[in-house]
Amino acid sequence: MTDRLIDFYSDTTTRPGRAMREAVLTAEVGDEQRGLDPSTNALQARVAELLGHEAALFLPSGTMCNEIALRVHCTPGDEVICEQTSHIVNFESGGPAALSGVMIRTVEGDRGRFDAAAVAAAIRPPSRYFPASRLLCLEQTANLGGGAVWPLEQMQAVVAAARNAGLAAHMDGARLLNACAATGIAAATYGGLFDSCWIDFSKGLGAPVGAVLAGPATFIEAAWRFKQQWGGALRQSGVLAAMCLYALDHNVDRLAEDNALAAHIGQGIGELPLVAGVLPVDSNIVIFDIAPEGPTAAALAEALAAEGILICEFGERRVRVVTHLDVDGADGDRLVDALSAHLGTPWP
Ligand SMILES: Cc1ncc(COP(=O)(O)O)c(C=O)c1O
Repeated sequence: MTDRLIDFYSDTTTRPGRAMREAVLTAEVGDEQRGLDPSTNALQARVAELLGHEAALFLPSGTMCNEIALRVHCTPGDEVICEQTSHIVNFESGGPAALSGVMIRTVEGDRGRFDAAAVAAAIRPPSRYFPASRLLCLEQTANLGGGAVWPLEQMQAVVAAARNAGLAAHMDGARLLNACAATGIAAATYGGLFDSCWIDFSKGLGAPVGAVLAGPATFIEAAWRFKQQWGGALRQSGVLAAMCLYALDHNVDRLAEDNALAAHIGQGIGELPLVAGVLPVDSNIVIFDIAPEGPTAAALAEALAAEGILICEFGERRVRVVTHLDVDGADGDRLVDALSAHLGTPWP
């Protein structure tokens, strides 16, 4: 047992370091709701530019970015096309139905990614009997796909398929900057394809709170209404925005290290006898399956937790490991060593 927990559970578990916290001390603040918080305004302007959009809106969470985007793009009875493993479908508490009155039509993709033919097949022809297909959503990177990165051409093709049929397109960019680190493609090149998109600051960027939704000025004006209505409008939000600005300045370039560490860990895990398979590692997430002769994911997670290492049980025999700024190469080696002790020979 070590003193410190080695936490590969998620990139949401990072704690703000001293320098990030110190950035708050000098942050200029004001009333966000009246547009008077200079730090929040600066953050919004930077993210709008980063994502290739006219305007942006600071929100408490990525979930609120997705849900507000759905509400602005759709009216009740509309249909939204999402991949079946997406966050919007599985982890937002039924928000699309509860908050926007929309139906979701899922498509089955390859590690969270799908093609233009799947979009075309999911779009309904106009009819007063059918829900109206209104919005296409996708995730870059696709979390449950093992941090899968969408190739740019595939993304362009699915967005074009949606646009040709009159749908809008929205990108959940919770880990977009990990994709940018992996491909070298600018965030604006991905973001500019969409009618709305967002990035999260509480994942690989290491801030404790915050996400920023971007789009055309008219979209952001409409989004403001729901931020206010749903209780997401803040006051001196500059104390939060200052940490997000710090993250933009200091924690973007290093995402390449997280991706490289995940690739290294994935390779080590792939060599273990009781690992049935590892999803390709495109970014900072490693998902692997334990062979039937090995422990369940729950038993493995419990055994590792007893050794001070946290991993995420993602199914009966599926495990997720996520890298981030609070773990390093030595932690990665400790993880692979610990896993090899449990996945080297059949469990009794
Ligand atoms: C792909 C994806 N989208 C959206 C979210 C929601 O982000 P938040 O936790 O900031 O609400 C997450 C969180 O894990 C995510 O992984």
